[in-house]
Amino acid sequence: MPRHAAVIVAAGTGERFGGSLPKQYRPLAGSSVLRRSVEAFRASGRFGDIVVVIRDEHRALYDATASDLGLPDPVIGGATRQDSVRAALEWLASHAPDGVLVHDAARPLVDQDTIARVLDALETAEAAIAAVPVVDTIKRAEGGIASGTVDRSGLWQAQTPQGFRFATLLAAHRAAAGESLTDDAAVAERQGIAVRIVEGHVDNFKITTEADLTRAERLLGGADIRT
Ligand code: CTP
Ligand code: MG
Repeated sequence: MPRHAAVIVAAGTGERFGGSLPKQYRPLAGSSVLRRSVEAFRASGRFGDIVVVIRDEHRALYDATASDLGLPDPVIGGATRQDSVRAALEWLASHAPDGVLVHDAARPLVDQDTIARVLDALETAEAAIAAVPVVDTIKRAEGGIASGTVDRSGLWQAQTPQGFRFATLLAAHRAAAGESLTDDAAVAERQGIAVRIVEGHVDNFKITTEADLTRAERLLGGADIRT
C-alpha cells in the first residue's frame, strides 16, 4: 500500500476576508474552518502524516481549535502559499511518503469522494488535481468595458486537494523557489509534469470573503451533512 501524506495550508492572513480573526480560524457550524478541513482528511483514513502549516503568530488560535486532534506540531509557513507548501514538503522529506495531497484550509467543505478521486488517480498519474468545469461565460474587460469573450470550452476551475508523487512535488517546489505560482499544479506544470484533472465538487469552494462563509454555513445547515 502506498503511503500518503496530507498538507493543509493555513498560513495566510486572509486579506480579502478582512476582520481581526483570520478566516481559517472563523467558527463554522459548531467547528472552525481549519478544523473541518483537517477532519475531512482524518475521516478519509488514508493518510499517515497530516501536516498543518500555520503562521507563527496564529499559534494560540491553532491550539484553540486543533490541539486535541493529535496532529504533529504545525509547520511554520512563509510569505506566500508556495513558500508555505514548500516548508511542509521539506518537513515531510525525512518521512518520504509515496504521495502527498495539498489542500487549502480555506476549503472546509471538501467531500470524501473528491479526496478519494485524487488519491486513486495517483495510482496511475504523477499528479492529479480536483477541478470543476467553467460554466459561466468569461469576459475580458478593460476599464469596465468588455473587450472580448473567452471560449470556455476546455477551461477548468482548479480546486484542492491537489495530489502528487511526493518526490516529484518536492523537486518541483525546490526548482520553483522564488517564482510566483498560484497553485501546486502550476509548480508541477513548470517542470513539464502532466497534471491529470479529476472531478471536484461545486461545494468545495474556497472561503475568500464573508459571503463564502455564509454560504458554507447555509450548506452545512448547522449540522455536518457532508461527512
Ligand atoms: N496560505 C498559506 N500561506 C500563505 C498564504 C496562503 O498557507 N502565505 C494558505 C491560506 O491560509 C489558505 C490557502 O493558502 O488556506 C489559500 O490561500 P488564500 O485563499 O489566498 O488565503 P489568504 O492568502 O489567507 O487570503 P488572501 O489572499 O485574501 O490574503
Ligand atoms: Mg492569498
